Order: sequence, then structure tokens, then C-alpha cells
Amino acid sequence: MQLKGKRVLVTGAAGFIGSHLVDALVNEGCITLGLDDLSNGTLSNLSHHEETSLFSFIKGDIKDEATVMHLARKVDIIFHEAAFVSVPRSVVHPRECHSINVTGTLNVLEAARLLDVQKVVIASSAAVYGDDPTVPKVETMIPMASSPYAASKIAAEAYLHSYHEVHGMDTTALRYFNVYGPRQEASPYSGAISIFRSNILEGKPPVIFGDGGQSRDFIHVQDVVNANLLAATAPEAAGETINIGTGVASTVRDVVEIMLKICGKPELKYKIAPEREGDVRHSLASIEKAKNILGFKPSLPLEIGLKDYLAGEIS
Ligand code: NAD
Ligand code: UD1
Repeated sequence: MQLKGKRVLVTGAAGFIGSHLVDALVNEGCITLGLDDLSNGTLSNLSHHEETSLFSFIKGDIKDEATVMHLARKVDIIFHEAAFVSVPRSVVHPRECHSINVTGTLNVLEAARLLDVQKVVIASSAAVYGDDPTVPKVETMIPMASSPYAASKIAAEAYLHSYHEVHGMDTTALRYFNVYGPRQEASPYSGAISIFRSNILEGKPPVIFGDGGQSRDFIHVQDVVNANLLAATAPEAAGETINIGTGVASTVRDVVEIMLKICGKPELKYKIAPEREGDVRHSLASIEKAKNILGFKPSLPLEIGLKDYLAGEIS
């Protein structure tokens, strides 16, 4: 399938990943609708599209069936990024998490079914692998919910798969690993790399929880966007759930040291704080399935990706 000229809907368009996806789709020549309730995203992530005739923004909630139906009527493909994204907040507000991540996804699927949308790609998460220490994570491993957030992503994946099985719909779930890049908000709930960046910019030493030997599969947002474009067009992706990572793990200590070096601030060093409760020691994606089905090849190894992210901050 060719993307040029397609009509697409991006939910969560004003967020970190959704806004980069909008950029890529507009660049591909897609007529792009962006839906977001602005609960966590910001219009400044999309302000460069104010004059773009191919892009329209709609403020609205995926929990509202009528809104989703109205927009699905106008598109060929839906990229569903909108979500309740915080794991710790999901523990405190499980109903809200469920209604956005599960019922919201069901709204997207029902609208897509009723209006014959050709393709639905949804954002899932490595959180579905829970605390299982086995690495690399392979899609055939049994999902384990260690939080309401993880449970909601497992449920959303299950609904997606059922719509493929029962209605023959072309659906794909992408399990993102640790995504980083421009426009990721730095807050206590954000990804480590955005927090380290903000620490360094404030001239403060980044704080490492534990010995820093824990590792993650950090993936640049641009590669996540590319995976979405591939998933939308690869015929064999129908009905599949696919890991999206780089296939390379980096320790948190290495990440901090690379970032300090790139910013020319090695003297800041880093501080050590107690290990975070429940922290997984190692997380790494097997990307064999992404390679075989999508032809996915990560293009930004960590050091290059971090240079891109920190461009402008280099002294
Ligand atoms: P984000 O918070 O920046 O983006 C999510 C967007 O969804 C926000 O703009 C928010 O305002 C919007 N939204 C929330 N509830 C909504 C609702 N009811 N109706 C309409 N819009 C709503 O987060 P992100 O990091 O860009 O995450 C995008 C997707 O990727 C999410 O589904 C998330 O679970 C998934 N994910 C992200 C990561 C990561 O490392 N960032 C890892 C795994 C999975
Ligand atoms: C991420 C998700 C989490 C999800 C998990 C499952 C975020 C913010 N967290 O957690 O919700 O359950 O994936 O795959 O997206 N660290 C520091 N200093 C800091 C911040 C973090 O040392 O200031 C460490 C953490 O202890 C952890 C590592 O950096 O070992 C990565 O942390 P984080 O970015 O929060 O991601 P995950 O722990 O993988």
C-alpha cells in the first residue's frame, strides 16, 4: 500500500510520539487528521503545521464514540497513539486508565469496523512483558500485567486481535520499548533520558537509581515513527503484534556518560540514589519479527540518536 494521498487519523496527535507521526505522514503526502484532548499533549508540538493544508487538528476525546465515528468516516488508516500513559498514575486511577486505554481503543476499533477503515495500527508497550527477567523479549512470551497500565495495553491488544480474527480487519499492535527524542516532556513520570537531559541543561548531575548497571532498549522516536509507516503498508503485518526496539540494550550508566560527553559537561558526573522499587534489571527487544514482517531496521544507534536529541545543547 502507498501512503501518499491516503487519508489518515492520528489519535494522541499533540503528544510526544503522535506529533512526530503527524510530521512524517504530512511529509509522505497524507491528508492527516490529528485528534487529541490535550490532557497530556500540547498544541505547540503541532504549531509548525498551522499553515499546512494537509493537516487538521481536532480537539476531542477518544472516549466519545460520536467524535471517533465522525473522524473515522473520513479516513483510510488510523494510527492510535492516544493513551493514559503513566504507570504509577494507573495504580491510583485504574478506572480512568481502563476507560481511555481499553474502552477508547474499542471505540477506535468499532468505528473502523463500521466505517470500513482499511488499517488500524495501535501503540502498545513493552510493559506487557511485566517483570519476567528473560531477555530478549519475544512476542510469543506470555504477557504479564504488573500494573493496571500493562493490563490495559494487554486488553487493547486482545481486542485488536479479536477484530482481526472475527471481522478480518487489518490491525497491527506495536509494542514500543523505551522511546526517547525531542518533545518528550521531562517530569518525574517521564522516560529516564528526558529527565537526564533536563538535569544536564540545569547544570545538575543526573541521578541514577541503583548501580546504573540496569539496561534498557532505548529507541529514538524517529525509528518508532518509521515502524508505524511500515506497519501501515506491510501486508503481512495484518493481525500481528510486533516489538519495536533497536535490539540493543544500553546500561543507564552508559547513557548518562554518553549524554554528559555529548553536552561537553563530563564534570557534572552523576549522583547515585537508591534503586527504584520494582525496577526491572534488563529489558531488550527481539526485533526479528519486526525485521521479517515489516522490513524494519533501526537507523539511529543510541549515540547518534542522543546527538540528534541533544543538538543545540552541545557546548
Ligand atoms: P504522550 O502523553 O506524549 O501522548 C499521548 C497523547 O494522548 C497526549 O497528547 C494526550 O493528550 C492524548 N490523550 C490522552 N487521553 C486522551 C483521550 N481520552 N482522548 C484524546 N487524546 C488523549 O505519550 P507518548 O509517549 O507520545 O505515548 C504515545 C503512545 O505510545 C501511548 O499509547 C503510550 O502508551 C505508548 N508508549 C509510549 C512509550 C514511551 O516510551 N514514550 C513506550 C511504550 C508505549
Ligand atoms: C518504562 C516505563 C514504565 C513501564 C516499563 C515497562 C516510563 C517513564 N516508564 O519503565 O512505565 O512499566 O517501561 O517496559 O516510560 N532511572 C534513573 N534515573 C532517573 C530516571 C530513571 O536511574 O532519573 C532509571 C530507572 O530506575 C530505570 C531506567 O532508568 O532503571 C529506565 O527508567 P524509565 O525511563 O522510567 O523506564 P523503565 O523503567 O523501563
